Amino acid sequence: MTLTIKQSGNIAVVTVDNPPVNALSQALRQGLWSAAETLDSDPSVEAVVLICAGRTFIAGADVSEFGRPPLPPHLPDLVTRIEKAAKPWVAAVHGSALGGGFEVALGCRFRVATPSASVGLPEVRLGIVPGAGGTVRLPRLAGPALAADMITSGQPVRAVRAQEQGLIDAVVEDDLETSAIDFVRLALDRPLPPPLCERSVPVVDASFWETTAKTVAQRAKREEAPLRALDCVRKASEGGFEAAMRFERETFLDLRASPQAEALRHVFFAERAAPRPPELRATTPRQIRSAAVIGGGTMGAGIVAAFCDAELPVTLVERDSAALERGLSNLRSIFEGSVKRGKISSDVAEKRLSGVTATTDYGTLADVDLVIEAVFEDLDVKRDVFSRLSAVCRPDALLATNTSYLDPEQIAAGIKHPERFLGLHFFSPANVMKLLEIVPTRDTAAVTLATGFSLARMLNKIPVRAGICDGFIGNRILKVTRAQAERLLLSGVAPQAVDSAMRRFGLPMGPFEAQDLGGLDIAAFQRQAARKRGETPFAPVAERLCGLGRFGQKSGGGWYDYEKGDRTPKPSAAVERIIAAEAASTPQRKWREDEIIDCIVLPMINEATKILDETIAARAEDIDLVQIHGYGFPRFRGGLMHYAEKRGIGDVVAILEGFADEGLVEGPCDLLRRSVNSGRLGSP
Ligand code: 3HC
Ligand code: NAI
Repeated sequence: MTLTIKQSGNIAVVTVDNPPVNALSQALRQGLWSAAETLDSDPSVEAVVLICAGRTFIAGADVSEFGRPPLPPHLPDLVTRIEKAAKPWVAAVHGSALGGGFEVALGCRFRVATPSASVGLPEVRLGIVPGAGGTVRLPRLAGPALAADMITSGQPVRAVRAQEQGLIDAVVEDDLETSAIDFVRLALDRPLPPPLCERSVPVVDASFWETTAKTVAQRAKREEAPLRALDCVRKASEGGFEAAMRFERETFLDLRASPQAEALRHVFFAERAAPRPPELRATTPRQIRSAAVIGGGTMGAGIVAAFCDAELPVTLVERDSAALERGLSNLRSIFEGSVKRGKISSDVAEKRLSGVTATTDYGTLADVDLVIEAVFEDLDVKRDVFSRLSAVCRPDALLATNTSYLDPEQIAAGIKHPERFLGLHFFSPANVMKLLEIVPTRDTAAVTLATGFSLARMLNKIPVRAGICDGFIGNRILKVTRAQAERLLLSGVAPQAVDSAMRRFGLPMGPFEAQDLGGLDIAAFQRQAARKRGETPFAPVAERLCGLGRFGQKSGGGWYDYEKGDRTPKPSAAVERIIAAEAASTPQRKWREDEIIDCIVLPMINEATKILDETIAARAEDIDLVQIHGYGFPRFRGGLMHYAEKRGIGDVVAILEGFADEGLVEGPCDLLRRSVNSGRLGSP
């Protein structure tokens, strides 16, 4: 960490350089404190510009210090020190001023920013509230409604919008340091605005807080921080500055020590580590400037949309002109949906779609950098596609399959230059879901793999390396989830009781509702393939439902009944009869909700541990990311493996053994048993 002070006439410039993101470590807090002391006593200085080196302004408190006792100078005191400095400070923001970084900027008398900068208070994403006056000063700058929205959502705001909202004073196009110096020189000629601690908050109706609390609670699901953050904004709006600062600090310290915050910090670091696995750090990826997607069905259209969103030129290839027209229509509906939901304007949608070339001619792919295959899940069809690609594409073009269950090595058999082949397993809807499983074959070169990871970054995805097995990481665990859910039905639990238990655990949907939404046919097709391989998949009730054409919402019924045009699941008498018939020889028992959850989640942990032991996943954290970003596992629980560790591996093993004695689950695997003493599945 370095902090330098230089002078330009009567203006001092304090430059912070604390790579990678200028986080407010203890050393930096101390450095800024000393700078405020020095500059206050320097009569030649009339104002101070605070600017940062590197890719960003101060990105926040140093999250890696959160597990340790806080050391002085504490951030709230530092912000107050800057606010009370004898000379006005101006924050010169580039990149992101987030969390503690924005709080420091709020302590400054002025804020100027480059057009690409953004500001925000994302603390709730870490399970905490702003802890250095953010909830107290922001309502004084922007009013309670905007402050409540920004703080409870954690969403940052881009500079131009932030200026319109009064969060920053100027957006500057030219050199930031020079512009900030010019800005503050002019400001010195006029009476200074009062610091935020001396301003009052506009009064809002009491009903505002009740209505907002309802919205926030709905959005936060079971996360604690957003509602606690709203309490802080309310306190800041209704009480005095000092009392609100104390209330915020108490809330911050309380939440910082909470299990949710610990879990969310774990996810924060896992997400940041994911794009750069240590084994690939020395490999330079290839550049991807153009791509093609083969197949414009559910997945292909979504993958094309993801490329459009990343503003990468993409070619969509279909097998004939009718299928191409359907593919384009799938793609258009994705963008129409985004426009309807207000995510993008129709102009932006049109612009993004204009980057797509549509064709049935594989010959046009001679010069693309990457091709992703998303055709039917059929080995022969896929092999035929790759033999055509291998004939027309450049020898260094990356070739990828989006297969869910087939073996990528069999798909790639016989292609030219197999070192440029890999699996890129997107999740549906591919333009929305963040997870990308990256599946190398035994021939995949390091540069191909590294390019897969860099592509994930370009597409704003979270990449996780997965080994080859049936279902890779995510779908292999999903199979266990579904089998356990059916076992529960046979031992006396209704589908709606299973779904409501899993929702209470924090999933957005229960396993049966989710199957009805996605359709039961894909899994039925997989079971058929598994039986051909000599396996005996367990899905007695699902099998009967598919036999009756009950494929889920799209066929008017699945695990539940649906009325036309209504997606509300209604318990089905027909399904109850099938369950009763299938359950005839299974012992029935009474189930508590926590037992229902354990009977699904603990076998998932068991399977995930086997996946780790077989090195299908390299790290426990990777499994956490797969669960959170591919399957909606609650982020505030830190993912499946983090949850297992916090629950206690000994507990997990003991409960699994009890269920195994009842014939409800497989017994705990070796690695799980071996981990009881350390209590750890992830890296120490
Ligand atoms: N503390 C510690 N390390 C941090 C950090 C932080 N606040 N923010 C980022 N890092 C680290 C990352 O772990 C990563 O480390 P690595 O290189 O060893 O893997 C490195 O910085 C780079 O991070 P990214 O890969 O995310 O870099 P990008 O350039 O893609 O993104 C960013 C930059 C937008 C600033 C992004 O890092 C980010 O959003 N950071 C988090 C910001 C945040 O949440 N701030 C609030 C913190 S809580 C707080 O301030 C409490 C206060 O109210 C008291
Ligand atoms: P889909 O049936 O919706 O689409 C497949 C498309 O491929 C069709 O439009 C078809 O016309 C086209 N196609 C078939 N043969 C072709 C050829 N020779 N050349 C060009 N186009 C051809 O299937 P879906 O659901 O999009 O799945 C595609 C792949 O993605 C499968 O391998 C599937 O396992 C995988 N996948 C599916 C997920 C899902 O949720 N649907 C999730 C992740 C992966």
